[in-house]
Amino acid sequence: MLDDRTMFGQLTAANSMKWDATEPEQGVFTFAQGDVIANLARQNGQLLRGHNCVWHQQLPSWVTSSNFNAAELTSVIQNHCVSWDVVNEPLNDNGTFRSDVFFDTLGESYIGIALKAARAADSNAKLYINDFNIEGPGVKATAMLNLVKSLQQQEIPIDGIGFQSHLIVGEVPAGFQQNLEAFTALGIQVAITELDIRMTLPETAALLEQQKQDYTTVIEACLNTAGCVGVTIWDWTDKFSFVPSTFPGYGGCLPVGRGA
Ligand code: XIL
Repeated sequence: MLDDRTMFGQLTAANSMKWDATEPEQGVFTFAQGDVIANLARQNGQLLRGHNCVWHQQLPSWVTSSNFNAAELTSVIQNHCVSWDVVNEPLNDNGTFRSDVFFDTLGESYIGIALKAARAADSNAKLYINDFNIEGPGVKATAMLNLVKSLQQQEIPIDGIGFQSHLIVGEVPAGFQQNLEAFTALGIQVAITELDIRMTLPETAALLEQQKQDYTTVIEACLNTAGCVGVTIWDWTDKFSFVPSTFPGYGGCLPVGRGA
């Protein structure tokens, strides 16, 4: 019997703690939707991962470069960041910083501004940068390692890196575990934060078999890495997954199918 109250040790809100949900107007904070998830976690005795604080998507329309100069945007970020996956997706696939309202106005300093604000708001929360396509060794993973080193040199708080892990069946990056270990070697935690493994539709027995192996590979990479604190799947049934609309032609990415 599937029971989401006992099957999972931790919850992440897919949308309800994002900037557009929590600060729809400047300085007007509403945590009603986020509280639903937090209360659920509390009732079920589950841990809670805050997701996310600073990201280029799902921003309210008032967070634009035309509205703020650097000093103003600094205080906007400081006011918004309380904890959690503090910075989401700061890098492009080629390892450069993503151009968005934050980087275009503040350069890479926005990352430190957000992390310091989160630390000031909560001295206990683990502060993460979260991104995709850093699961295997490569130019983007190297750029993230360099970002961590640079933050550490500047004594900016960084507790962990989240590996989103929106993967494709049969394409789990080689060297996943070694890559996780390269990060933990810097003295930080790592976590698999948004795991799903999609396949081209229709589902076939062969694809489902490969997918089983792929889930095992990813979970074992985390289990085998001291300092990998956990695995979060991004939704647990295909019914609610963002994958079919974001990656047309793909689906069947989660442990529980659409029918369940
Ligand atoms: C997705 C949600 O699952 C969708 O419901 C929403 O429409 C868009 O965002 N990387 C992230 C997540 O960090 O916040 C995204 O979640 C999926 C990609």
